[in-house]
Amino acid sequence: MKMPLLEIKNLSVRFDSDDGPFRAVDDVSFAIGRGESVGLVGESGCGKSVTALAVTRLIPSPPGHIESGSVMFEKKDLLKLGPGALRQVRGSAISMIFQEPLSALSPLHRIGRQIVEGIRFHRDISKKEAWNYARQWLSKVGLPDAQERMYAYPFQLSGGMQQRIMIAMALMLSPSLIIADEPTTALDVTTQAQIFSLIREMKQNDTSLLLITHDMGVVWEMCDRVVVMYASRIVETGSLDDIFFRPAHPYTKGLLAAIPKLSVGKMPLHAISGQVPSPLDYPRGCNFQDRCAHVSEMCREATPGFFKLGEGHFAACILHDNNFSGGEGRDLLQR
Ligand SMILES: Nc1ncnc2c1ncn2[C@@H]1O[C@H](COP(=O)(O)OP(=O)(O)OP(=O)(O)O)[C@@H](O)[C@H]1O
Ligand SMILES: [Mg+2]
Repeated sequence: MKMPLLEIKNLSVRFDSDDGPFRAVDDVSFAIGRGESVGLVGESGCGKSVTALAVTRLIPSPPGHIESGSVMFEKKDLLKLGPGALRQVRGSAISMIFQEPLSALSPLHRIGRQIVEGIRFHRDISKKEAWNYARQWLSKVGLPDAQERMYAYPFQLSGGMQQRIMIAMALMLSPSLIIADEPTTALDVTTQAQIFSLIREMKQNDTSLLLITHDMGVVWEMCDRVVVMYASRIVETGSLDDIFFRPAHPYTKGLLAAIPKLSVGKMPLHAISGQVPSPLDYPRGCNFQDRCAHVSEMCREATPGFFKLGEGHFAACILHDNNFSGGEGRDLLQR
């Protein structure tokens, strides 16, 4: 990897719920290089959004607490920055596209005014320049009648339009890192393609991307590297080819087997059997143990460390530990 732009180390996030505390993110570490696109994948509830929110300290507290870890960005630990410095970073150097567009827009102000204020907070330009710049960007993200929409309130627009406005706001200040959490779920495929091509264009200028998605096709199209999470922890990380062609963790294999394949017609999908454990009730040892066909006693005893499978390719599964049954585990996984 080139020099990392963002480096997350040993990040753990706890929530205090009525039923007790639980870890939504448990000892997560990964880095994103300059100009690199990293896909963060895993089943619903595994901690992807909480990881992304923790990076810019947007976890609602209470009930959330960042228990430990560091998030280095341009030589600063974002988890230690004061509120002023953090606001400077958010929305300019790091911009975010959320699952829920309304969370990024104020219901009380017209769209144009919000965007212009956002631009002028970070850039020293006149209101008129900011207005024209905003209008151009709204057209770029495929918003029809951009000029008119600038006078609308968020509630007067459809969910897809709000989403496009949020995407425009995230991209227009040329951030060095875009964090996109299911950015195009609310959009039709044509607009989705348009947005991804805009993001890809920005990548040419060395913009980095953290892309959270359930769509492995989108990961394939957009990312250089993949981080796979399961039940609050990272279980595997590797290049696109590592993950798609040489998946090592039984969970990653299950995720890939669950992708519908158009070419083979109507085949039954291989859903991963069993349920994700509740974060209030994670077992001792590997969190995937109860759904894993290769589970052994050791998996129930200790959390597996990361085993190296190649340059930048790691899996948290003892079947890849050469000390464990003399590497027999790998043969087991081939079957
Ligand atoms: N504000 C909150 N208060 C309490 N618990 C929360 C809060 N936000 C998230 N959680 C819990 O943290 C865990 C991780 O949630 P997260 O939103 O990160 O999942 P996710 O991987 O993004 O899932 P999805 O794919 O459905 O978006 C879940 O158990 C969730 O219920
Ligand atoms: Mg989420």
